[in-house]
Amino acid sequence: MAGKYKSVYFCSNCGGESSKWLGKCPACGEWNTFVEEVVKKESTAQAAAKGKSPMSLVETNGKSKPTLIENVETTDEVRYDTACGEFNRVLGGGLVPGSMVLIGGEPGIGKSTLVLQVVLNIVGKKTLYVSGEESLKQLKMRAERLGTYNNKQCFFVSENSLEEIFVHIKNVEPELVIIDSIQTISTEAVESSPGSVSQVRECAASILRYAKESNVPVLVIGHITKDGTIAGPKILEHIVDTVLQFEGDQHYMYRILRAIKNRFGSTSEIGIFEMMGSGLREVTNPSEMLLSEHTQNLSGTAIGAMMEGVRPFLIEVQSLVSTAAYGTPQRSATGYDTRRLNMLLAVLEKRVGFKLAQKDVFLNIAGGIRVNDPALDLAIISSVLSSNMDIPLDPHTCLAGEVGLSGEIRPVNRIEQRIMEAEKLGFKRIIIPNFKNLDLKGTKIKVETANTVADAFKMLLG
Ligand code: TYD
Ligand code: MG
Repeated sequence: MAGKYKSVYFCSNCGGESSKWLGKCPACGEWNTFVEEVVKKESTAQAAAKGKSPMSLVETNGKSKPTLIENVETTDEVRYDTACGEFNRVLGGGLVPGSMVLIGGEPGIGKSTLVLQVVLNIVGKKTLYVSGEESLKQLKMRAERLGTYNNKQCFFVSENSLEEIFVHIKNVEPELVIIDSIQTISTEAVESSPGSVSQVRECAASILRYAKESNVPVLVIGHITKDGTIAGPKILEHIVDTVLQFEGDQHYMYRILRAIKNRFGSTSEIGIFEMMGSGLREVTNPSEMLLSEHTQNLSGTAIGAMMEGVRPFLIEVQSLVSTAAYGTPQRSATGYDTRRLNMLLAVLEKRVGFKLAQKDVFLNIAGGIRVNDPALDLAIISSVLSSNMDIPLDPHTCLAGEVGLSGEIRPVNRIEQRIMEAEKLGFKRIIIPNFKNLDLKGTKIKVETANTVADAFKMLLG
């Protein structure tokens, strides 16, 4: 290799850098993540500057000036209304000019569909959609599936070179830029292949500089895989202003858009979508989709009042308890942490006296979504009880409460919101932990409090 280039090793998980290969990354602790990449050697000017005292650079630099906080001028923040309520909500009320937003998710989950849908419906903003993955024909076919659109000023280009992208930006002068996806873009400044750590980092840094200088918001799509083999989002998280994660199960229609980092809003907001034949549909009332309409009562089903970020919803949990056919009983959970399920089963065994040691227990959360709100404990434990005894629970009762190791039911956050959601959906009774000051004025739903799992079971079984 010519003297102009040198090899550097990068951690593909966190972007850590090293001059030699390491088995374990000292920054993030992952094993076998270092990959070799070739980068250009720094220029002589940069190298010379390194040796000098920082104060000797004072003469040449000095464009920015420290200012007192009270003298900083603020303009009323104008956000772009994306015409997609759920997307606006997750962004914290719309797209902030000059911000760089990363939308991460597994391949095939619907990131391109979401972004295309957003840009085709945003009103009065000249948009440039750069696709490094699909041809214009493919984009057109996708747009046709999505149906009618309102944005008449949306330009598309299929391009992989960062330098060319900036040429297109100069020509189009867009008010919104989309890069689909960051792993397919490469710059000549770095020698390694597209998608490598140094390429992704370099391209993202240039795009960020463009966004800040021009005050144009940029939406960047990034793929993540479960095993983290594709470099990207982890490394980008530090660079960008906002990280949104699009997640869901490929076999189900529901998709959740979650803010993981947001410099312009809260990270507790989520957006819920349903993937249809004609694109994504916003789901404004998630509870309705997560509760099935039973015609008859079935054992093993319980309804829990959960929170996802700041949104309450009611969800159906199902258990099946059956005699273990083989020696070791199986415990399996879909959409829920198996270790927590085992803990809850141990509580049932020890504190309530259920003999579950020789039983298989299967747990399923409706809708294919993953939950980790501890307030669902009570619903899960009740559904196991119901299946084990083969007694259906009252379909008009729902539950919220965390179960402790001694079988006590512990308070959970935002209980009023959970109660109100249950009432809104027509439930007649909700069983919750004991709260000291609970203001229940004006609630029509019957609120019952239980101190222990045994108490709750008495209430459930009458
Ligand atoms: P896509 O947006 O290409 O995913 P990503 O950009 O995250 O890789 O969407 C992938 C899936 O979405 C694809 O398998 C087909 C499905 N899909 C629909 O079900 N309906 C639609 O209207 C569209 C456009 C896609
Ligand atoms: Mg895509």
